[in-house]
Amino acid sequence: MLKDLSGYRDKYLKGELNENDLPDNPFDLFSKWFDEIEKFGTEIEPNAMSLSTVSSDFSPLTRIVLLKRFSESGFVFFTNYNSRKGKNISINSKVCLSFYWPSMERQVIIQGKTHKISEHDSMEYFNSRPESSRIGAIISNQSEVIPSRKYIDDKLNNFIINSETMAKPLNWGGYNVVPKSIEFWQGRDNRLHDRIIFSNESKKWNFKRLSP
Ligand SMILES: Cc1cc2nc3c(=O)[nH]c(=O)nc-3n(C[C@H](O)[C@H](O)[C@H](O)COP(=O)(O)O)c2cc1C
Repeated sequence: MLKDLSGYRDKYLKGELNENDLPDNPFDLFSKWFDEIEKFGTEIEPNAMSLSTVSSDFSPLTRIVLLKRFSESGFVFFTNYNSRKGKNISINSKVCLSFYWPSMERQVIIQGKTHKISEHDSMEYFNSRPESSRIGAIISNQSEVIPSRKYIDDKLNNFIINSETMAKPLNWGGYNVVPKSIEFWQGRDNRLHDRIIFSNESKKWNFKRLSP
């Protein structure tokens, strides 16, 4: 079976990225881009990002997670620390995050090191989640093989019937990705896209333009 996809050919004409318009640090630019994407209003989850980790045998693995906050301290997402990604991160804390915002023809790629956030901050966020999300986090040993759909549905029903405690599991919490580089990609005509990469060298952010 062959499905030919070569007919997909969009033109990227919605913006440009000029050195003169760049702030001193990439967080301000990320924040500006994020605000613009939110205002544009067509991305359902503009905070959805791919997270790539590397396993002990150097196999990369990418999945989607949700960015829950960002600041000059880093980019925070929440998950199960015992999951596949959690195990990878415990071996190799270097990760890659990437965002694709087709509405404005933009991509952002972040490379950095991951640190667990404090138990207090994880708890605070956990308690702010809707009840259904908290229960989901409690009953799912994320990434473990389970026998059937019924197994997890039964676990949910038992949890509800026995009204078990809603405490945050110790193995659930946030990771903060402290970036060492952030690349901003703006689609341009003729596939000659704008690419600006900020790198943190000796606690100072510098940027360079990369060839498309
Ligand atoms: C839109 C979207 C958002 C998601 N957000 C999260 C998240 O914030 N945290 C999380 O652990 N998994 C999230 N997931 C599920 C992950 O993609 C993944 O299936 C899960 O974390 C297990 O990954 P792992 O087995 O590689 O550890 C999300 C999936 C999608 C499609």
